[in-house]
Amino acid sequence: MVYASFKGGCSFLKILCMECGNPVGIIDKVYKCPKCGGLLDVEYDYDALAETVQKLWSNRPLGVWKYSELLPVLDKTLRVSIGEGGTRLVHCKRLGEKLKLKNLYVKDEGSNPTGSFKDRGMTVGVTKALEFRVRNLICASTGNTSSSLAAYAARAGLNCIVLIPSGKIALGKLAQALIYGAKVVAVKGNFDDALRIVVELSSRPDFYLLNSLNPYRLEGQKTAAFEIHEQLGGRVPDWLIIPVGNAGNISAYWKGFEELALLGLSELKPKMIGVQSKGANPLVRAFKEGRDLTPLTQVETVATAIRIGNPVNWRKAMRAVKKSNGLFEDVDDNDIVEAQKTLAKTEGIFTEPAGAAPIAYLMKHRDDGLIDADDVVVCVATGSGLKDPDTAIRFSEKPAEIEADSKSILNYLRRSELT
Ligand code: F0G
Repeated sequence: MVYASFKGGCSFLKILCMECGNPVGIIDKVYKCPKCGGLLDVEYDYDALAETVQKLWSNRPLGVWKYSELLPVLDKTLRVSIGEGGTRLVHCKRLGEKLKLKNLYVKDEGSNPTGSFKDRGMTVGVTKALEFRVRNLICASTGNTSSSLAAYAARAGLNCIVLIPSGKIALGKLAQALIYGAKVVAVKGNFDDALRIVVELSSRPDFYLLNSLNPYRLEGQKTAAFEIHEQLGGRVPDWLIIPVGNAGNISAYWKGFEELALLGLSELKPKMIGVQSKGANPLVRAFKEGRDLTPLTQVETVATAIRIGNPVNWRKAMRAVKKSNGLFEDVDDNDIVEAQKTLAKTEGIFTEPAGAAPIAYLMKHRDDGLIDADDVVVCVATGSGLKDPDTAIRFSEKPAEIEADSKSILNYLRRSELT
């Protein structure tokens, strides 16, 4: 199949089924292979791009659109952006000391415009919606996807409909979706029920699905891998540790690292560690038992963002982890809460519970002997802690109520052994 080429936007692009290799038309609004139902992958003509991208990228500021040659947008005049990407990669020396890791980094994705990594995907996905001339954008969400889609839909002047599991999304995320003007529907079921419904609805010509089944969204998300490579001075980490829910993001990072190799920019690829919560761990079970994924119908975790029993991208994620010689592991809710506090108290990074799962993995499994003290380890903190203030307060010491005079305050501080 030849690559399609377009003026003013990305060139050399094709879309294929990851299972049967069937090519899909790049101007068609499809989410899965029409032949076999497999997940779709976007590919570029890496040989042709290898000669030009390094020079082009060297003059642009960090951010998703820096890498536009590797983004599947055909008309760049339609770009819907609110400043996504370009997030900090923090060298965590104090936490690294605790964990006996000299080169521990956290990619702080909570500093994206709506406070999570989802913005990287939405800027691309919502731009595609304008290309497809659809008006109604729809998603199911454990929270962050809905916040992000609602913001980008508002920016583009499109309608946004989100289905959330009733009573199971963090308050900050709900507030965002509402204030950005989305039509929010609380489904009496879990995330997997909500996703099943939006997939059914999205076959209508006037609806466009923005969950991570959408291959264009993952293209935006892969740019975090490009940024890490650049922020580490032109190398990839030895280990990339990332929370896993619907399994899109881990797949997107892996694709980013693979593309760096295909472009000749990096020889190595990191080992990927996907971390799930013990109460919602279908991929960990499938990985450890060496079998296909069996969906879980009952899932529960403090990390509501990854409270998912039937991850749609599991095949992509399994492929990524296996090709990288990595693994899937789970951590329990206590580990997650402890890790969230530890990251905040040692490095000043406040991530939501799901975003702390990689640190929880390290705190639990550092002694397994898998990771060397000199290895470069990047943990992805996927969303801001301000999204879920209830959980942070629930697990923290409550503020003391003291009389309004300095003597009483000093007495209190003495009792707390602070002075
Ligand atoms: N971390 C956070 C903060 C998330 O919001 C999500 C997913 C993940 C990790 C997992 O990413 O699904 O690509 O494996 N949140 C989705 C949502 C499901 O609806 O906001 P994944």
